[in-house]
Parts: sequence; C-alpha cells; structure tokens
Amino acid sequence: MDHFDYVNGAMQVEQVPLDVIADAVGTPVYVYSTATLERHVSVFREGLNALDNPLIAFAVKANPNAAVLATLGRLGLGADVVSGGELLRAIAAGIPADRIVFSGVGKTAQEMRLALEKGIYQFNLESEPEAEMLSEVALSMGTRAAVAYRINPDVDAGTHAKISTGKSENKFGIPYDRAIESYAAALDLPGLDVQGVAVHIGSQLTDLAPLEAAFTKVGALIEKLRAAGHDIRTADLGGGLGVPYDPSQPLPPSPAAYGAMVCRVTQGWPVRLMFEPGRVIVGNAGALLSRVVRVKQGAQAPFVIVDAAMNDLMRPSLYDAWHDIRAVKPAGTRETANVVGPVCETGDTFAMHRDMDVVQAGDLVAFMTAGAYGATMAGTYNSRPLTPEVLVSGDQWGVVRARPPIEALIEADIIPNWVGN
Ligand code: LLP
Repeated sequence: MDHFDYVNGAMQVEQVPLDVIADAVGTPVYVYSTATLERHVSVFREGLNALDNPLIAFAVKANPNAAVLATLGRLGLGADVVSGGELLRAIAAGIPADRIVFSGVGKTAQEMRLALEKGIYQFNLESEPEAEMLSEVALSMGTRAAVAYRINPDVDAGTHAKISTGKSENKFGIPYDRAIESYAAALDLPGLDVQGVAVHIGSQLTDLAPLEAAFTKVGALIEKLRAAGHDIRTADLGGGLGVPYDPSQPLPPSPAAYGAMVCRVTQGWPVRLMFEPGRVIVGNAGALLSRVVRVKQGAQAPFVIVDAAMNDLMRPSLYDAWHDIRAVKPAGTRETANVVGPVCETGDTFAMHRDMDVVQAGDLVAFMTAGAYGATMAGTYNSRPLTPEVLVSGDQWGVVRARPPIEALIEADIIPNWVGN
C-alpha cells in the first residue's frame, strides 16, 4: 500500500499534488512519502511481533537519502551498511552505531577501522581472509570486533540472476558445508568475538520457500555451532522480501506472512534475530516524476519520450525491471506505447508495448515503486545532473536533495596544463 492517490483526477502524494512539486523543482525528480515509510515500518515490525527485541536494520543501499534515513531512524530502525560511506551516512542521519551492521565481501582495513571506532553492533564476515584482516585491525586498536559469518546456503532464491546471492556459485558468504571449519578457525583469531550467523539469499523474492529453506539451514548450523562451544547469540536473516511492481501479477508474500514463517522457523532459537529489509520498506514509498518531452511516431507503437532516462532509473535497463507508468492527470483514454528516455542508446527504454494512459508533450508521468534502488543508482551518463529528491509528509514537502547545477559536473573535471588548449 502507498499514499500516491488520484484526487479530483490528479495524482497526489499524501496531500501534495505532484504537479506542484514538478512545477517547483522541475523534472525528473524522485518523490517519497513519509506516511508510506511509516506504514511499511509498522507492518514489517508487526509481522515480527512475536519476537523478543529483533533488530531491524534498514539496508541503506536501497535508499541512502539522509532525510529517509533520519525518518527510519526516528522510527527505531537500525542500518545495514556495505561501505564506509553508508556507515557515515547512517550515523550522520542519527542512527546509533549499536543498531548498525556492516555487510559486504570487500570491506577494506580502513572501513573496518572506521566501523570499530564508531562501535557498530556487528560485522557480517564473508570469508576467512576477511576474518583474519578484521582480527588484526581490531587488535591493532586494542579492541575486539563482534562478528557473524554470512553463510552461503546454496539455495536458489528464484529471482533475477543479477540480484540472486545465495547460490554456491555467487560471490557471497562462506560455503555452508565449510562453515564449521571456518567458525573453528575464527576461534584462533583473538581480535574477534564470534556472536552470530547471517544469511541473505537475494532481493525481490516473491516466494517464501527459498527463504524458509535458508533459515532452516541457519537453525541447524546454530545448533551445531553451539554444540561445538561457540557462543552464538545473534542470527541475521537478511532482507529480500519482494514488493508488488506490476498490478497484473500475483502479490508477493506480505510482511505478515513473512513474519509468521520467520516466527515458526526460528521458534526456540536462543538468539536475537536481525533483519536487513530494504525494498519492502522504501520501494512503494517513492515515485520518479517525469515530464513528456514529445511523442514520436513509431513503426508499431508511438514512442513517448520522457525527460527521465536510464541514468535516473537504471532498473529497467539493468534488470528488465517493470515499473508501472501512470499519467499524473489521466485523460481517460489508453493506448499501447513505448516509453523511452533521451539517452542515446536503445537500452534507455522504460517500457515497450505498454498499455498505458494516453499522454502528450508536457504531461507528467509517474514511474511507480521507485523508492528502492532508484535515486541511489542514478548516474550522470550523457552529462545529466543527478536526480533531485523530495520528501512529503502530509501537506508539507521539502527538497531533500537538490538538483546539482550542470556547472558542478563540468567543474569537477580537471584539465592538466599539458593537455593544451
Ligand atoms: N542485505 C544484504 C546483505 C543485501 O545485499 C541486500 C541487497 C539487502 C540486505 C536488502 O535487500 P532487499 O530487502 O532490498 O531485497 N539493485 C537491485 C537490488 C540489489 C540488492 C542488493 N542487496 C534492484 O534494483 O533490484
């Protein structure tokens, strides 16, 4: 559920008409709804009601905007970070370090040092060499690092190959079958306090079965590790729950169904459970607002050329992702059209042969479910400045990231003297 609704024939977010934002800020622009963020946090939390003090650490990569993080931090969420940059962002937005977990296969010694200085809750380690490095860094600082190993359960998440992480051929985690050896070796690393097990098998999962299979493996491993004398006190079950993108497709499992499955599978585990949801918290809380530049005749269907492009929202070109495209003021008629951006490559296509509202030059369209992995994956390809972001709450709204002037892009480059000219 979200708070983007039609009122008197025009889409608004909460109480703010989208055309007001487009006129003031220009397009393209990402627009987020605070009420939707709040609702998703409370629905996710309610699903886990039966658990004792779970840590819900928002996957910052999904949407690292400071105002979004501050909103989620105010609602009590922690943060799952994957870089020193995300760690500093989370802290700057007011998320306490003791609610932060650090994931990722390539943490550098410098990032480890930073996270230890800040006093984060847990490092999720993804390899033995990483464990050795972290132990050394911690010892050099006279401290110990609280860690979990992320295990690779060799489970097929059934999602797009580029966002599937739990198969043995993927780069993530330590192999499940070697986990006992890896944990045993960690006991010889004096800079580590091994406290947990972690898993994350992929993103946009629309079936609970692979998650349940992975969690069941985690449960079995926790038992074995505790029997072997490891003091396992946390289990991080990652993120991955899918969201509805295409209204014609079956709904993905609800947070309530996910929570019920988690509670059933983890019953009796002597650990604090942790979660790293990203998309399910922010996905439907955001839309990318864009204006139609012109409509051009195509061989089979018209091309609706909008002022947003693949650099603003990469998901369709990267994963063939489907985003609902709606006219902000629908004329009441529909047609089959292709929706494309102005960037000079064919991959800059948002939709082909899409049944959609008829739109004309100057009309506004909204790309729905763009709050997760939207603005954060934007780039400046074709020298297009980064997309600005707006946050709405009730009848209030504010620019939470301004559109940089094109001069900023130009001035960032340096022409050495010897280049001449
Ligand atoms: N935890 C870890 C360790 C992760 O790698 C991820 C996402 C999450 C949690 C959050 O997963 P979520 O709940 O959002 O599914 N750019 C892609 C998605 C990449 C996901 C990467 N990892 C997309 O636009 O679909």
